[in-house]
Amino acid sequence: MEGFLDVAHFSWVHADSFGDPDNPVVPQYAVTPTDRGFQADYISTVSNLPKGFQHLAPAGFEWLRAFTVFLPFTAILRVHFPGEGRLCILNAASPVSARKTRLFSPLCRNFDQDQPLEPVYEFNYQVFSEDQEVVEAQYPEDLPLDLSIESHIQADQSSIMYRKGLAKLGLSKIYTA
Ligand SMILES: [Fe+2]
Repeated sequence: MEGFLDVAHFSWVHADSFGDPDNPVVPQYAVTPTDRGFQADYISTVSNLPKGFQHLAPAGFEWLRAFTVFLPFTAILRVHFPGEGRLCILNAASPVSARKTRLFSPLCRNFDQDQPLEPVYEFNYQVFSEDQEVVEAQYPEDLPLDLSIESHIQADQSSIMYRKGLAKLGLSKIYTA
């Protein structure tokens, strides 16, 4: 969930798919609590198009990635493409055990609807595989909900809100399943 919500890792983890190593800056973004979780609206110049297609967006286009979080394990990302284009990605994590999680991630879009879907699946598989490598090298089952245990930076706003939300749900400070 935190990996899906994080906006600061694109330049490094996703350098081969859509991230730009020369554009690592994370502009301030708004995070707003909701009844079921929170909303994070992230605007940046980081393209959501695959490498090789990024010239198709207008120069300097500002991409809105609108995250709607439903605690504890579900979020929707709505990516606002040029024009009225929208790509919506559901990230529904279903923990199976402390070390295993089944992830459901249906996607939909309102553009290129006459185009083949295979390249879309391939691209998203690539993106999720890049994340998987990082997540599985960590210990998400021990996510510290006590915010004083780790150092947080401004770019972590979504993670901070997420951890506060989990704590509010009554999950333990040391969150081991
Ligand atoms: Fe990622």
